[in-house]
Amino acid sequence: MENKDIQIYSGRSELSKSHAALVKIGEEATADAYAPYSKFYVGAAILLEDGNIVKGSNFENASYPLCLCAERVALASVHSQQPGAIVKMIAVTAKNPRKKVSEPVAPCGACRQVLCEYEKKQGTPMEVIICGETGKIVVFKSAAQLLPMAFDHTFL
Ligand code: THU
Repeated sequence: MENKDIQIYSGRSELSKSHAALVKIGEEATADAYAPYSKFYVGAAILLEDGNIVKGSNFENASYPLCLCAERVALASVHSQQPGAIVKMIAVTAKNPRKKVSEPVAPCGACRQVLCEYEKKQGTPMEVIICGETGKIVVFKSAAQLLPMAFDHTFL
């Protein structure tokens, strides 16, 4: 562990039950990825305050810029299925058949921005768990930690 806001675990066996369960569902979601171009299969699992779980996976397109990341697919799904639902935590993981993902998968900048917006909207922190197929797992207590000096509504 590094500090109380960012926890680093050396493997899945060190995780709490709730973190481990969500990571497992994130892993399962990699199987739903539509990623024929990158062949990098990302899964996200979101735990809502009411106990519901919503999955997402990356959703690619032959027109490459239209590819959607797993995190944003999952979050948009939450918003469409249960608008206003409070997100307690999101777990993100990935599979790469060519090269085992041995580092925690890093959410892209756009996903960080979107996670931060959702967190601000709900007014309560969401935990972000990132992991690879093996290796360490990082748990952020809040999405805001992923994007210092984020652009937000206060500028508008
Ligand atoms: N990708 C995600 O879905 N989430 C991430 O955190 C990193 C990248 C996807 C986008 C694209 O479909 C593939 O991984 C390769 O960039």
